[in-house]
Amino acid sequence: MKATAVAGANIALIKYWGNRDEALRLPMNSSLSITLDTLLSTSTVMFDGDLEEDEISIDGTPAEAAVRSRVVEHLDRLRRWAGSEERARVASYNNFPRGAGLAASASGFAALTAAATRALGLSPDERELSSWARTGSGSAARSILGGYVEWRAADRHPDSYAEQIAPPEHWELLDCIAIVSTVPKSVSSAEGHRLAPTSPLYRARLAQVEAALPQMRQAILERDFQRLGELAEAEALSLHAIMWTSRPSLMYWMPETVRVLAAVRERRREGLSAYFTLDAGPNVHVLTTPEHGEQVSRRLAQVEGVQQVKVARPGPGVHLVEQHLF
Ligand code: PMV
Repeated sequence: MKATAVAGANIALIKYWGNRDEALRLPMNSSLSITLDTLLSTSTVMFDGDLEEDEISIDGTPAEAAVRSRVVEHLDRLRRWAGSEERARVASYNNFPRGAGLAASASGFAALTAAATRALGLSPDERELSSWARTGSGSAARSILGGYVEWRAADRHPDSYAEQIAPPEHWELLDCIAIVSTVPKSVSSAEGHRLAPTSPLYRARLAQVEAALPQMRQAILERDFQRLGELAEAEALSLHAIMWTSRPSLMYWMPETVRVLAAVRERRREGLSAYFTLDAGPNVHVLTTPEHGEQVSRRLAQVEGVQQVKVARPGPGVHLVEQHLF
């Protein structure tokens, strides 16, 4: 059977960085994100007893070795669950650049998990789907759900899944993404998670996150934008402090990144409601409210080195569609 699913990328407001169990991608800390409506991955999966090996294409070309083996490992886990040995044909398509810290692995593995489980004849509930997506890429657990989403850290595979804390229509925030590079990063986030505990600041970060997460949840439920923004900026800087102080050190920022961060703070002093956050890459997500969206996008586009500004809003969770990629 063939199945196709679409999932949105997500931007973490409280970040996942570091695993308690690397193989199962059980995170050290809980995290919280917004699933985005315009950064989408589509995945079509078909299992076929006549295939000798998995055939995996991404954005129209055969997947490179590292990506291929990660997808095959994920298919193997789902095959074991379903008791199937059939190989699969998989096509994935992203409408935004991969590997540049825009969470293509979150939307990609969320879409792949939903399509593959359906194609295997499994009927997981949302929690199971989220836990299984997590084993492909941690942050994919959150892209299963729409809107505002929290992923709980836990010690056992079935207990670490994401849940919606508020639907997309609860609060129409804007994420204006200033793209300064679309070159895939040279150090994967998988490697970053491994390095996290080597930072002398890591324990302090875990304590900080534990305090910040309930505050962020409350800021969302109360639609308190200033609170959300202040917490999001502090959190992003804490994440990058861990990266810089890991051994070896990781640095995802580019000179253009710093220009955007400075511009956001400058615009804020002028009265615009805008706060930044960044994942594992040089591109900057600028959170704002609908009334300031147009001005924020325009001002970001004027910053030297910004190639493009993509605007996203809270969007739906993963869903099956009838339009297959092959
Ligand atoms: O899911 P991964 O392994 O690509 O890790 C994502 C890590 C961050 O994007 C930096 C943070 C997050 O919670 O999304």
